[in-house]
Amino acid sequence: MQKNLKELLSDAKGAMKVANSLEALKEVERKYLGKNGALTELLKTLKDLSLEEKREMGTLMNEVKVAIGEALGQRQRELERSEIDKALQSEWIDLTAPGAHFPIGHIHPLSQTQEEVERIFQQMGFTVIDGPEVESEFYNFEGLNIPAHHPARDMQDTFFLNKSPDAEEGRLVLRTQTSPNQVRAMRKYGAPLRIIVPGRVFRNEATDASHEHTFDQVEGLLIDENISIANLKAVMADFLGRLFKREMRVRFRPGYFPFVEPGMELDMSCLFCNEKGCRVCKHSGWIEFMGAGMVHPNVLKAGHVDSKKYQGWAFGFGLTRLAMMRYGINDIRHFQSGDLRFNMQF
Ligand code: DAH
Repeated sequence: MQKNLKELLSDAKGAMKVANSLEALKEVERKYLGKNGALTELLKTLKDLSLEEKREMGTLMNEVKVAIGEALGQRQRELERSEIDKALQSEWIDLTAPGAHFPIGHIHPLSQTQEEVERIFQQMGFTVIDGPEVESEFYNFEGLNIPAHHPARDMQDTFFLNKSPDAEEGRLVLRTQTSPNQVRAMRKYGAPLRIIVPGRVFRNEATDASHEHTFDQVEGLLIDENISIANLKAVMADFLGRLFKREMRVRFRPGYFPFVEPGMELDMSCLFCNEKGCRVCKHSGWIEFMGAGMVHPNVLKAGHVDSKKYQGWAFGFGLTRLAMMRYGINDIRHFQSGDLRFNMQF
């Protein structure tokens, strides 16, 4: 039996040597140490021996078992090492290669401009409010001193909806301007009031490089006691100066808007030539920026504000146009195009 054991050990070692993979080695292990393995079978014969022999053979068998186990472990490490070597030779990692590029989004130029405008007006004590894009005829027109059949309605080509949920408020429209929020805010918060309302507006336009059916405006409204247009001049010069990070001047020209009296247009000094005159400002030194004026008493009335005690000014400018000037964008249609080649530039 001792001879059998010796043979068994050398057979096992021989089998390990020719086992060329971890899998083949597992097979060798099973063959010798497994449930029906060669050594296990030998162990079963122990019971037929005398006590003396049992002790002697038992010790021997155990030594062989340990020896096989050690040899298996050693061969396993060898095989593992050679598999790693093989992988190192056939596979290759360039640790200096740049990482995979994951494209991340960023903020649309229009939203960037809006955030900046909001930040500056908030610093000046204005509250930023929001209003509905589907608006009633009342808030979009009547409340702003534009009665039905008044020719001023034709200043804006309006998208009408076929619904009129409320007889007093008239039909529904896609708001043509952010101005309806003047009356909404006055009714909701009363006077005094300092708000801006950025938002999307809609007009039935034939589109071209400077006209789009959907664009963004910012409405401003300040109501208090002893307010004059001088306050507006200071606020706008300050606002534009902070936005463009340089000194800006503004000037007024008369202009007609039914919801203000007097109404005016505000120009800002040309960013490109410092009022010297250039192609952008058509050699005038000034760029038309927005409509404004003292809030009409009829609008205060529609907002339930006492026009004897309070007065104020309002303005409205094109946020989309402002973003175009800010970034030098020459076609308004880019904004809604959803073209990443455009968006990613800003
Ligand atoms: N809502 C006007 C428009 O869309 C712009 C405007 C002009 C707003 C004068 C005002 C204002 O608040 O006082 O053309």
